[in-house]
Amino acid sequence: MSPSTEAAPRCPFGHGAEAPAGHHGYQPFQMKDPFPAYAELRAEQPVMFDERIGYYVVTRYDDIKAVFDDWETFSSENAQAPVRERGPAARKIMEEGGFTAYSGLSARRPPEHTRIRSVVQKAFTPRRFKVLEPFIRQNVVDQLERMLANPERRGDIFRDLAYDVPTVTILTLIGADVAEVDKFKRWSDSRAAMTWGDLSDEEQIPHAHNLVEYWQECQRLVRVAHEEGGDNLTADLVKAQQDGAEISDHEIASVLYSMLFAGHETTTTLISNAVRVLLAHPEQWQQLVEDPKKIPAAIDEVLRYSGSIVGWRRKALKDAEVGGVKIPEGAGLLLLMGSANRDETRFTGGEEFDISRPNAREHLSFGYGIHYCLGNMLAKLQAKIALEEIVRLAPNLKLDNPEAIEFRENLSFRVPESVPVAWEA
Ligand code: HEM
Repeated sequence: MSPSTEAAPRCPFGHGAEAPAGHHGYQPFQMKDPFPAYAELRAEQPVMFDERIGYYVVTRYDDIKAVFDDWETFSSENAQAPVRERGPAARKIMEEGGFTAYSGLSARRPPEHTRIRSVVQKAFTPRRFKVLEPFIRQNVVDQLERMLANPERRGDIFRDLAYDVPTVTILTLIGADVAEVDKFKRWSDSRAAMTWGDLSDEEQIPHAHNLVEYWQECQRLVRVAHEEGGDNLTADLVKAQQDGAEISDHEIASVLYSMLFAGHETTTTLISNAVRVLLAHPEQWQQLVEDPKKIPAAIDEVLRYSGSIVGWRRKALKDAEVGGVKIPEGAGLLLLMGSANRDETRFTGGEEFDISRPNAREHLSFGYGIHYCLGNMLAKLQAKIALEEIVRLAPNLKLDNPEAIEFRENLSFRVPESVPVAWEA
């Protein structure tokens, strides 16, 4: 691979002094406010080799969409690869623990991807999760009422609502134990940190233990479905296999390994971001209080403006070109959808949050093409229910000290640590 070493032009946005030359203020793992750096990159160096992570960083909408669309040139096989190599201690723990998990779908290539996705898609229909709607709504109401009962009139939307609701939903869908929310959250945090984080060898050790436990649980769920059946997605996949669908037990466990992470982590973030961003724009929040029918459009605008995943990876399978820059065979690309979603060439006034934006749905937060997020409807359904109940039960919610909100360090997932709120009597 031959990264460009050309000095970057002087930066008109004023980042040049503190940022390493050529990076335009972009710090791959910093998530607090990456948007000024994204804007600089789009303007100055829309395809930039970043030697700190070893990836070509792509920031313009059209380039990113074209790469997603061309799966024959740009494969997703590196989408789940650890950004930082696993250290010897973590590798040993995982080997000895029988950790053989592989991506359920997102890092698989056709024809294997096509085969597994078609089996999963038949089981993961809106019918399977639509029946859960009253149950999801009740869970939202219970969590909210518990938060609103706090006599200090303060809460944290992340911890008090967004953490639990999507996790209970996906555990129910898959047939896992809903009393184990904290355990699944801990495992998921480990997965996010081990794959997309910047951990030292030492820091990886507890996470390696967690991944072993997590994978063992996925395999156990498949065994239980074989032995006992059940009315859940795991049992449906096992039944499909028994009826002749081409999917192995290891592949089913891998799908669970994916969904028990993707199925809540990103929705927790979506609900948190929806409340955080809408309350930061009180006049738009008020519009939803007065007319909740505007909520679905507002959710798409939240996904555009503040997506749960701001970067996703691809690998060039042959020599290629992106935005006029040569990409050598074997190179990794980091597609910054968080930047594409604010690209002025697609979204007029892209840096502004506007729930009446006509084309918000063109955001790339769910990816694009053959790997387009399988859970997008479930994620949006849950965010819609959460917002409907919050504007109904807590219309006068306010953000409490929003400047203090921190975001976890990560290459791809932009997750607020908390969304503190307060309300009047
Ligand atoms: C706000 C919530 C969510 C966001 C932002 C999100 C985002 C994404 C992204 C960026 C991809 C990769 C797309 C690509 O490579 O082109 C993806 C794939 C996927 N997502 Fe989601 N996701 C969300 C919720 C969910 C939920 C709730 C589920 C499951 C219940 C889910 C399951 C999956 C699966 C299985 C894939 C792999 C699809 C494939 O490779 O064919 N996601 N998602």
